[in-house]
Parts: sequence; structure tokens; C-alpha cells
Amino acid sequence: MIVIRPCRLDECRAVLALWERAGAIPSPTDTLEELTQLVRAHGDGLLVAVQQGAVVGSVIGGWDGWRGNIYRLAVAPEARRHGLARRLVHEAEQVLKTKGARRISALVDRYEAHAVGFWDALADRGWRRDERMLRYIKLGGPFEAPHVPIPKARGPLRGPRAAASRSAPGA
Ligand SMILES: CC(C)(COP(=O)(O)OP(=O)(O)OC[C@H]1O[C@@H](n2cnc3c(N)ncnc32)[C@H](O)[C@@H]1OP(=O)(O)O)[C@@H](O)C(=O)NCCC(=O)NCCS
Repeated sequence: MIVIRPCRLDECRAVLALWERAGAIPSPTDTLEELTQLVRAHGDGLLVAVQQGAVVGSVIGGWDGWRGNIYRLAVAPEARRHGLARRLVHEAEQVLKTKGARRISALVDRYEAHAVGFWDALADRGWRRDERMLRYIKLGGPFEAPHVPIPKARGPLRGPRAAASRSAPGA
């Protein structure tokens, strides 16, 4: 049985290992220090899926008082295609709604075919692509971890959705 619950402080290291094993795109904030800070400050901001003591899934549900944001959805390779990511997103949504969120976003790398495939599949839960938006980021000053570059796209989006994505305006 897989249980989904808030991450405990002593599980942060296992979550970082999961992200690496899952092939999640590395980000400058993937540090034990920053993950620990998140768990300390927002107990239910990071949910983990635990099977027999092992962390096999994660999701961050961020709430800034205005909008909910979902980050770091990851499922261990051996636990995939059993609906675990769907469950994680559902649980994160419940937490965010309890905090007052009426709008929730998820940033998805358009070149990660499995991630796009997953989020497209959530259309039955009301999730849809927002083709209007571009993402602007700033790394610098005290926020920058200079040793971690912004990852480049890993390759072209594959599969039937790739063509649709390429032809969509603003995609
Ligand atoms: C994307 C990811 C979280 C999906 O986890 P999962 O537990 O396997 O997903 P689910 O089992 O809940 O999948 C639900 C549906 O999403 C779609 N889906 C899931 N993985 C997919 C893939 N690799 N390709 C295409 N569609 C996929 C399917 O429609 C699936 O339903 P089905 O299995 O009945 O066909 C997992 O592959 C992962 O951790 N990838 C690496 C990290 C990542 O990219 N995270 C997303 C960042 S936004």
C-alpha cells in the first residue's frame, strides 16, 4: 500500500534522491538546506508517497496567498503507470484548496514527453494547457546558485502530441 502524507524532516534526503532517480530536471534549489526549510515552514507544502518506508513519489503544492503552484511532481521509475502521480496531484489540490486556492498552475517542460503526456491526461480532472503564457525567470544576486546552470531542453517532444504542440500558437 502506498500512503501519501506530508514529508517529514528526516525524509528530505530521500526526496532529493527520488528526484535524481526519477530524472526530474535539476533546479538550483534542489538542496537539503532549501528542502528542509520548505518542510519546516510549510508542513504540508511537500507531500510524499511512501511504500514500505521508501519515498516513491513527491509533489510540492505552493500557496502564496494568491495562486497555487504545483512543483516537483515525481514518481520513482518502478512505481509508474499505476495512477500514483494522479493521486499526488489530487492530494496537493486538496491541500491548496483548504488554504484558499481557487487557481492552480503547473509548470511543465514542453520537451519532457512523459510530463506533457501526464498533464494532458489530466484533462479529465479539469487541467488544460494555457498556451497564452510565457515564463520569465531571474536568477541572480542572493538567489543564484551559480554552479547549477539552467538545463537546456533535452530533445524534441515526441509522440502524437508533439505535432499539436508545435503548431499551437504561442506553444
Ligand atoms: C510524469 C510522472 C510524474 C507520471 O507519473 P505516474 O505515476 O507514472 O503517472 P500516472 O500513473 O498517474 O499516469 C496517469 C496518466 O498520465 C499519462 N501518462 C503517464 N505517464 C506517461 C508517459 N510516460 N507518456 C504518456 N502519457 C503518460 C497516462 O495517460 C496515464 O494513464 P495510463 O497509465 O492509464 O495510460 C512520472 O513519469 C515522472 O516522475 N517523471 C519524471 C519527473 C517529471 O517529469 N515530472 C513531471 C514534472 S511537471
